[in-house]
Amino acid sequence: MQILVPAFQCYKRWMTKSIEITGPAHLFTPLEIREVHLRNRVGVSPMCEYSSEDGFANDWHFVHLGSRAVGGAAMVMTEASAVLAEGRISPQDLGIWKDDHIPMLARIFRFIEEHGAVPAMQLAHAGRKASTAVPWMGGGALSESEQGWRPIFAPSAIPFSPKSITPEPLDNAEIARIVQAFGEAAQRAREAGARIVEVHAAHGYLLHEFLSPLSNTRTDCYGGSFENRSRMLCQVVQAIRQTWPASLPLFVRISATDWAEGGWTIQDSVGLAKQLQPLGVDLIDCSSGGAVPNVTIPAGPGYQVPFAERVRKEAGIATAAVGMITTPQQADQIIRDGQADMVFLARELLRDPYWPLRAADELGQDGPWPKQYLRAKRA
Ligand SMILES: Cc1cc2nc3c(=O)[nH]c(=O)nc-3n(C[C@H](O)[C@H](O)[C@H](O)COP(=O)(O)O)c2cc1C
Repeated sequence: MQILVPAFQCYKRWMTKSIEITGPAHLFTPLEIREVHLRNRVGVSPMCEYSSEDGFANDWHFVHLGSRAVGGAAMVMTEASAVLAEGRISPQDLGIWKDDHIPMLARIFRFIEEHGAVPAMQLAHAGRKASTAVPWMGGGALSESEQGWRPIFAPSAIPFSPKSITPEPLDNAEIARIVQAFGEAAQRAREAGARIVEVHAAHGYLLHEFLSPLSNTRTDCYGGSFENRSRMLCQVVQAIRQTWPASLPLFVRISATDWAEGGWTIQDSVGLAKQLQPLGVDLIDCSSGGAVPNVTIPAGPGYQVPFAERVRKEAGIATAAVGMITTPQQADQIIRDGQADMVFLARELLRDPYWPLRAADELGQDGPWPKQYLRAKRA
């Protein structure tokens, strides 16, 4: 089978080889994106650890991310990493807004790389969901006396919920400042050794807030039409691509639907993917929800996979499926059926960091066992 994804054909500048696969693909078929080799199709989905001080990575991140590289994943992505201090969800978020953050990340990424996985970093700005307590402290809005901060920013002055902080609408100069911060954060991620960056444009954080008509009621060139609402995300992608090497992949995570009347839809997601691909985006990571509270989500095994499949087929771009993917057979089938190019796992990889090794055993594949652990490999 050849050219599953007729990607990267628009801007000459970003043109690189399409994803090319010989023979039927399965969970342990390697994947090349640009000049990055992924040893299989399993990615560690970004997961906030809320364990940083002043944005710094520490030994927790070293062990958490490092053990998942040892466990056999092809790509190990950091949690949402704030591009500006004001863009943290909580005071304990990981950050990448200053050069001082680089050395510890570099140590972690070097270890991930040494164990055969590709280090990736998710770049984020929390928008109107900033300045909140960590989940195990209730997740509510934090006042300034509780380590919170003001102002927090969004496209429009609409709080997420009645108990949330009312954000300040961004003016054009502030939008440009944040766009630039994403670009600079990607440069720092590269300096630290990340070989994939993912822009977080999902789950009701700043870039998703611009996309969704439920949180964006602006009347300027960043609101109203689909083109206007997607403008800031496109500018972020362009800012990153100005310095992010053409040999390295750029991913975008979206909420493929808001699951809400009058909100962002899967058709919008297909349109957005078509817009982002020529700007140098290689893969759309298809999550959902988070724009507004109190929506009904039909969560169940693989419930977001159809979004990855539609974006992949209708926009002709590589996708990652995520959400309640837990068994090796389920993950393998998603790849075999061409519903997505990668599967990202979150909670199942918290339960078992060695899931990819176990999956390879169960599927009769040769897993990427570290030499130190070979004696545990089933014959
Ligand atoms: C502890 C935890 C932290 C998370 N943090 C992030 C994050 O930083 N960025 C993000 O895009 N998604 C985040 N998510 C969502 C996951 O990446 C994933 O999309 C979601 O958990 C569904 O996948 P799963 O069913 O395999 O857990 C988080 C999920 C969990 C459980």
